Amino acid sequence: MGIQFNQVSYFYRGVKNETYEAINQITLNINDGEFVAICGQTGSGKTTLVQHMNALLKPTKGTIQIYEHTLPLKDKKTKIGPIRKKVGLVFQFPEYQLFEETILKDIMFGPLNFGLSLKEAEEKAREAAKLVGLDDEILQKSPFRISGGQMRRVAIAGILAMEPEMLVLDEPTRGLDPKGSDEMMALFNELHEKHGKTIVLITHDMDIVARYAKRILVMDKGKIKFDGTRELLFISDEFEHLHLAKPQAYRMMEYLSNTLGYPFKQVFTEEDLLAYLKEVRHE
Ligand SMILES: Nc1ncnc2c1ncn2[C@@H]1O[C@H](COP(=O)(O)OP(=O)(O)O)[C@@H](O)[C@H]1O
Ligand SMILES: [Mg+2]
Repeated sequence: MGIQFNQVSYFYRGVKNETYEAINQITLNINDGEFVAICGQTGSGKTTLVQHMNALLKPTKGTIQIYEHTLPLKDKKTKIGPIRKKVGLVFQFPEYQLFEETILKDIMFGPLNFGLSLKEAEEKAREAAKLVGLDDEILQKSPFRISGGQMRRVAIAGILAMEPEMLVLDEPTRGLDPKGSDEMMALFNELHEKHGKTIVLITHDMDIVARYAKRILVMDKGKIKFDGTRELLFISDEFEHLHLAKPQAYRMMEYLSNTLGYPFKQVFTEEDLLAYLKEVRHE
């Protein structure tokens, strides 16, 4: 199951009807249970790619299998709802999409749309709110009277209330402070580890990529230029052409190795680096 892209291209149309190819002949499998990060420069096609994953965009060429559904849809009567329920897409700056008068109502919107009763929708909404760490007391407040980080949680709860199998997140930590960003990532990691959600996450933050992603895709000019593990990414011959940074701990390790002659070993987090230093110092 999961998602399979088969030779997918997407062309945006400009005002003069000219076309611009944003992704080019992408063939890609996302399997159930994966935690995939997507990186790449601005304009490389990341958002366009992931917007196909819940049928927000339809391929100009090629086909996509999204669980039991196929894009392009057979005809106009085929409903998109079931795809949206399977794959929850959280936009960049999702807080701009809040609109209801209370937080609870905002989170209930999706489940109600999929035909649940008021009571059932409220149950799902309360569960989702709890999952993202929103207190019960806050649920009757207006979504416009809370902090940006909280607003983002409300938007994510709204997606989770539909109980998707896969969560697709477009730069979810962008604009958050370091603490907010860490908390957000801890949440996604918990959804992955404890609740078995498949995660597809676009980010520029290589510390996040190296800490959480089990598989990394790097896009460049509408194509996938790298698809593999962190262990392979940073030693890949392609790496310097991908315009990516290395994780901080990794760079620190390189520095220690170059200046003090420590034998180099790949480390991806501060904890890895600390463990390594303890090992070489025989502590
Ligand atoms: N609505 C749109 N209309 C026309 N071109 C677009 C539109 N959205 C994105 N593009 C173009 O498609 C390319 C890929 O964009 P995007 O998928 O947003 O990349 P990324 O998310 O990696 O920054 C870019 O060159 C961008 O300018
Ligand atoms: Mg983008």
